[in-house]
Amino acid sequence: MTFKTKILCIGAGYVGGPTMTMIARKCPTYKVTVVDINKARIDAWNSDNIPIYEPGLDEVVKAARGKNLFFSTDVDQAIREADIIFVSVNTPTKTFGEGAGRAPDLQYWEKTARQILANSDSSKIIVEKSTLPVRTAEAMERILNGNPKGIEFEVLSNPEFLAEGSAIQDLENPDRVLVGSRETPSGLAARKALVDIYAHWVPKEKIIESNVWSAELSKLAANAFLAQRISSINSISALCEKTEADVGEVSYAIGMDSRIGPKFLKASVGFGGSCFQKDILNLVYICESYGLHEVADYWESVVRMNQWQQKRFVQNILTGMFRTVAGKRIALLGFAFKADTGDTRESPAISVALGLLEEKAQVVVSDPKALENAKKDLAGAEVIYEEDPYKAADGAHAIAILTEWKLYKELDYAKIFKSMKQPAFIFDGRNILDHKKLFEMGFNVFAIGKAALKHF
Ligand code: UDX
Ligand code: ADP
Repeated sequence: MTFKTKILCIGAGYVGGPTMTMIARKCPTYKVTVVDINKARIDAWNSDNIPIYEPGLDEVVKAARGKNLFFSTDVDQAIREADIIFVSVNTPTKTFGEGAGRAPDLQYWEKTARQILANSDSSKIIVEKSTLPVRTAEAMERILNGNPKGIEFEVLSNPEFLAEGSAIQDLENPDRVLVGSRETPSGLAARKALVDIYAHWVPKEKIIESNVWSAELSKLAANAFLAQRISSINSISALCEKTEADVGEVSYAIGMDSRIGPKFLKASVGFGGSCFQKDILNLVYICESYGLHEVADYWESVVRMNQWQQKRFVQNILTGMFRTVAGKRIALLGFAFKADTGDTRESPAISVALGLLEEKAQVVVSDPKALENAKKDLAGAEVIYEEDPYKAADGAHAIAILTEWKLYKELDYAKIFKSMKQPAFIFDGRNILDHKKLFEMGFNVFAIGKAALKHF
């Protein structure tokens, strides 16, 4: 079959893989190729065991792979062929030099831009899919268009808003798709080419068009606002624990105000994931570089509150268990940063596990999908890994729920209670359990933003 348009995505990660799969599925006349320098990852995409766990993704990959969806490591060849190139390589927070710990590390992006330039013989549309600092498109255009070949690149911003665990749903039925371009004739033509792709399945009114800088900033701002809501409710949870207010009731009451709305108001052990902290720090760095120190400080406090919430959780375990956990077996149920994913990037479980290890606890990590990642995150630490939650809890002094996996709501806690050391403690970092019932079974129950239920 000859394809109408050839799309390439550089970077076969959490964003590139699912997004391109959906485009291929919805646009059968487009050829979609996804490349990555990581051969193992590409091999996995081509196998029955795709490299990321995402409900529903398997089926969509199988339906399109080999027809108009291809995974490859031949980056150069794929660049030569492509009309539209999405760039979805990682942009982690810089760990060195200027802006370390805040600014994004753009080396992968810049390398990709140079590779695109070296292998292109025709004009192309380049789409920023990775979240990038405002005005990155401009820098990329400078690199790409400073070429003697007489070819032109139009750099667009098309941030991805999918959330892990619901990626397929979010891609199939997005709240909105954002396409930013220059407002020049060639910029507008490139914008139309991208809008046409999404218009295959996304209603026109949900496709927002803007200038490039607005699109870039909107992505950072959206994530900052979402994270800010979680830090806000988490700050209130600390106050609830002191005052015997119940954060679930407070959250429900404020969320009923239609101006506030009910979503993203669930108090927890803290937010994790590859985006929120990184994007806020990125925003903070941009603000500082423009001398907007008060703005930077405001957003940074969202991250500080999140770190404090995780520390506070460990502190609550420690004080709850008679101020010592040394030698005590503590089963961490859940390690992924949220349910329905095996991803553990910035998961609060990492800092909780490390905090407990520092107190010399015997930590047992359990998770249905994230144990391989957990082993990497805690490499070198003396930790027991046990997928079966019943075995993990066997002989434990305490259980801590760190991910809201459905299976943890359905466990036989009476059976677990009997297998634990007494007095048995449960710390619900996601407020998913029936605390009163657990207390009646004999557990000492500590939840987020609620008064503790203790038998002593
Ligand atoms: C987020 C954004 O939602 C998405 O639009 C963006 O594209 C990428 O970043 P993701 O990180 O996959 O997506 O997950 P999300 O559902 O936003 O959850 C992030 C973290 O916040 C998780 O650790 C989750 O458990 C936590 N969370 C979420 C809460 O603690 N309380 C809430 O009310 C909601
Ligand atoms: P995200 O969550 O943003 O998708 P990931 O880390 O999951 O981030 O994926 C980014 C992918 O980009 C990784 O698989 C990485 O190997 C790939 N990558 C990084 N640099 C390049 C490059 N120059 N060429 C091709 N792939 C790259």
